[in-house]
Amino acid sequence: MNRRILFYIVLELLISLAVVSSITEDSENFVQSRKTRDALEEPTSKVNYTGNQIWKTKLINDQHKKVIMSLRNQGLIQTWGGNRTSLDILVNPINLNEVADTLRNNDILYNIIIDNLQQAIEDENPPITHDNEDRQGHRMTWNSYHRTSDIWGFIDYLAQTFPDFCKVFTIGQTHEKRDIKVLKISNGKVGNKAVWIDGGMHAREWISPAVVTYIINQLVYNLDNEPDYMQNIDYYIAPVMNPDGYEYSHTIDRIWRKNRRPNDPTLSGFKLCYGTDLNRNFGYKWGLGGTSKDPCDVTYGGTRPFSELESKAMKEFIQGTAANWKAYISFHSYGQYILYPWGYASAVTTDYKDLQNVAHKAGAAIRAAGGPTYTIGPAASTLYPAAGGSDDWAKGVVRMKYSYTIELRDDGRYGFVLPASYIQVTSKEALAAVRVIVEAASQA
Ligand SMILES: *[C@@H]1O[C@H](CO)[C@@H](O)[C@H](O)[C@H]1NC(C)=O
Ligand SMILES: *[C@@H]1O[C@H](CO)[C@@H](O)[C@H](O)[C@H]1NC(C)=O
Ligand SMILES: [Zn+2]
Repeated sequence: MNRRILFYIVLELLISLAVVSSITEDSENFVQSRKTRDALEEPTSKVNYTGNQIWKTKLINDQHKKVIMSLRNQGLIQTWGGNRTSLDILVNPINLNEVADTLRNNDILYNIIIDNLQQAIEDENPPITHDNEDRQGHRMTWNSYHRTSDIWGFIDYLAQTFPDFCKVFTIGQTHEKRDIKVLKISNGKVGNKAVWIDGGMHAREWISPAVVTYIINQLVYNLDNEPDYMQNIDYYIAPVMNPDGYEYSHTIDRIWRKNRRPNDPTLSGFKLCYGTDLNRNFGYKWGLGGTSKDPCDVTYGGTRPFSELESKAMKEFIQGTAANWKAYISFHSYGQYILYPWGYASAVTTDYKDLQNVAHKAGAAIRAAGGPTYTIGPAASTLYPAAGGSDDWAKGVVRMKYSYTIELRDDGRYGFVLPASYIQVTSKEALAAVRVIVEAASQA
């Protein structure tokens, strides 16, 4: 090789290095300006999502996934639900053209599912009507999504009205000093197995507390009509595990996910960011895959396992009872999945066949109740790895045999803003799944 060729090779290299570094610099500036404009400033009044869109993208290969992750890292999109070949993304109106161009240039197909998110939010939750409040003695209905005060009012009412059967425990308080409550429903028989059910760990998944309160209502008012195995169980039910986040999703930002404790700004370049993802904060294989270390990220796992008041309260209560735990059910949305451990990585438990069988029976029961097909599998390999989840902790540490995360409706037509008219159908199918899991727990 002569010197001249070598010279050209070196020149080429230098040029390409310069180009690469200028692209990086540009896009970094660009990211900064976008991020400051959109997501990271704390709103003080209700966030208006006019013109925001939800797109369903088709991700066929790793290159597609890289493009989406890069858009997300640049703050141009937020990711919602999805599966391994399809992902729903939220696009801010100022970024619509740019995101569309990027998808097109990379041959990523997409459909606009919601063309105006604000309209979907306004259509989601009709005003609560209280025709029979006097008769019921509480404000709860299953025609609208209710605030935390109505939900606490409902379970407090049940405990006062049926003291032999229902008991409320306040297991802790949030950063904003809201109570975290658990309702115990039990016929008091010695030898009952215990089942934990929770909802509302993620603020924006409104269908979850609605479904969990529906299940409470059924267990309290209709238990006589349920099979014996349903009657002889101690239920511990936490309908709103993240009351600060849930309230914030009603009053300020409909699509808030985390809790509301402010993070240490020195961990994020002196930006003040709020909230930890409670379902990344549990103490089993904490901090592994699918968890962000960035306090501004929606999947931020906290500074250590159980750094958050909500997860810590749940841990201490569960480990502090003498209950004979056999099942754990955590309701989330959306996507229609019945997931079992592990979530931290693609691996299964030694008894996964038992969990899989019961999940398949639960899926069949959902269809028999008129529901859609729920996808079944171990969490990490079915969806994506997510360490620090409550289901992994329930299984790995507390040894609750039948540990499930159920992702409720829908499959992305409405995503997190599922209209309240779907509460009852979704609740009926969820109850059918609960029956199957409780039966398995009663025999475990
Ligand atoms: C949201 O913003 C749009 C347009 O900017 C406006 O027309 C609409 O009235 C606002 N909605 C609310 C609830 O403030
Ligand atoms: C993933 O989601 C898309 C869109 O909802 C659906 O068409 C597809 O069948 C799903 N794939 C799997 C493997 O479940
Ligand atoms: Zn969730």
